[in-house]
Amino acid sequence: MAVSSRPSQLIFSVLLFLLLSLPLSFAEIRFSEIRSDGRSIIPFDEFGFTHSGRLELNVSRIALSNSSPEYDLSQIGFFLCTRDSWLHVLQQIQDLDITCALQSDLIKLVYTFDRLHGNSSFNTLYLEPEANQFTLVFANCLPQVQVSMDVRSAMYNLEGKSDGRDYLSAGKTVLPRVYFFFFLVYSSLAGLWIYVLYKKRLTVYRIHFFMFAVVILKALNLLCEAEDKSYIKRTGSAHGWDVLFYIFSFLKGISLFTLIVLIGTGWSFIKPYLQDKEKKVLMIVIPLQVVANIAQVVIDESGPYAQDWITWKQVFLLVDVICCCAVLFPIVWSIKNLREAARTDGKAAVNLMKLTLFRQYYIVVICYIYFTRVVVYALVTITSYRYLWTSVVAGELATLAFYVFTGYKFRPEVHNPYFVIDDEEEEAAAEALKLDDDFEL
Ligand SMILES: *[C@@H]1O[C@H](CO)[C@@H](O)[C@H](O)[C@H]1NC(C)=O
Ligand SMILES: *[C@@H]1O[C@H](CO)[C@@H](O)[C@H](O)[C@H]1NC(C)=O
Repeated sequence: MAVSSRPSQLIFSVLLFLLLSLPLSFAEIRFSEIRSDGRSIIPFDEFGFTHSGRLELNVSRIALSNSSPEYDLSQIGFFLCTRDSWLHVLQQIQDLDITCALQSDLIKLVYTFDRLHGNSSFNTLYLEPEANQFTLVFANCLPQVQVSMDVRSAMYNLEGKSDGRDYLSAGKTVLPRVYFFFFLVYSSLAGLWIYVLYKKRLTVYRIHFFMFAVVILKALNLLCEAEDKSYIKRTGSAHGWDVLFYIFSFLKGISLFTLIVLIGTGWSFIKPYLQDKEKKVLMIVIPLQVVANIAQVVIDESGPYAQDWITWKQVFLLVDVICCCAVLFPIVWSIKNLREAARTDGKAAVNLMKLTLFRQYYIVVICYIYFTRVVVYALVTITSYRYLWTSVVAGELATLAFYVFTGYKFRPEVHNPYFVIDDEEEEAAAEALKLDDDFEL
C-alpha cells in the first residue's frame, strides 16, 4: 500500500541527504586533549573568517613518543586549509609532488614543531587576512611518532571600530538577531492565540491550551537560543545560557511531537480518549525525544571533529527519523477510521470534512518534516559559509508556517457541522466518499 511506501521513501531520502551533508561550522573556544595519537591528520575546528580573522593557538604538555633527535620535526604541525584546497593537497600527495600536507603551498602554515626547541608548550597568534572558511588541522607526517598534547584553539573575527572579538563564524554572526526576531513573531502568535481562545471560549478544547503551551515553549526556546548565540559571540564559550536552551528545546521537542500525535489521533476533537496503539506511539516518541536531546547536547558540545561525533550524529538522525515516521501513524489511522465511519453512520458530509482536514494535515506534516530535515540540510551544504544563516531562516520559516497552519485549521470554532448541512450537501458528500474509496493515501 502507498501508505507504507511514503514513510520509507522519506526515511531513505532523509538519511541520504543527512549522511551526505557536511557538518556545520562551530566557532567556540575549544579544548582538546590528544593522548598518544598516531593519526597523521587530526582536524580540529572550522571557522568562517572575515578579512580580520584570527586564530589563537595555545598548545601545552606536548610529548612525542619514540622521538629521536634525528627526526625532522617540521613534519609535525598545525595549518589552516579550506575544503577545496584540501582536495588539491590530497591530489598533490597522491601525485607524490609532496610527502606531507605541511609541505604544500596551498595550506596556511600556523606552527611546526621544529620551532619548539625542546619546549613542551607554545602560544601563537595567527592573523588570517583572507576571508574564507578554514579548518584548523594538525598533521603528523612521522608515522613512528605518537603525539600527546593539550590544545586550546580560539578563532574569531575582529568586528567594528572597537575591534571587539566576534567568536561566531562569518555566516552566523547575525543568528542572535534572527532568533530574536522569531522569538518576537512567536510571542505575537501566543498573544493572538490567547485572544482567539478568549473570543471562542465556549468551543475551546483542552488541546487548544496544549497548543498554547507549545507556542510558548517554542518562543522561550528561541529566546534562549538567541541569548546563547550572542553569549558565544561575545565570549567564545557557550556556558550559561545553553543549559536553559537545552531544557526548553527538550520540552519543545517533546511537546511538539506530542501535539502532532494528539491532533493526529483527533484527541479532544473527535474523541476524548486515546486508543492503546495511539498511547504506544506516544510512549515510543517521548523516550526517543529524550535520547535525541541527549545526542543533540553531545553533538553541540563536542564539535564535528570529536571522536564520537559521527556516532552521536547518527544516533540523533536515526531517532529523529523514527520519531518523524511514528507521528504519521496516528494520522493514517484517523483517516482510515473516518472513512469507515463515513460508510456506517451515514453522516457523510461531516466525515468528508474531517477526512479532508486530516488528509491536509497528513500532507502538511510530511512537508514540514521533509523541509526541516532534508531541504534545510541540503541548503546548508550548498550555501556558501557566508550565508549559513539563510538555511536557519528557511527552517524557521517552514516551522512557523507549520505552526500557523496547525493553529488555523484546528482553531476553536463555533460552527457545528452537525446541524448546518442539508440533504443535498449530504448526498453530494456521500457521492464524493464513494469516489474517495478509490483514492489511496
Ligand atoms: C623555548 O622556546 C624559546 C623560543 O620560543 C627559546 O628561546 C627557549 O630556549 C626554549 N626553551 C627551551 C628550554 O628549550
Ligand atoms: C594563548 O596564546 C595567545 C597568543 O600568544 C595569548 O595572547 C593568550 O594569552 C594565550 N592564552 C592562554 C590561555 O594561554
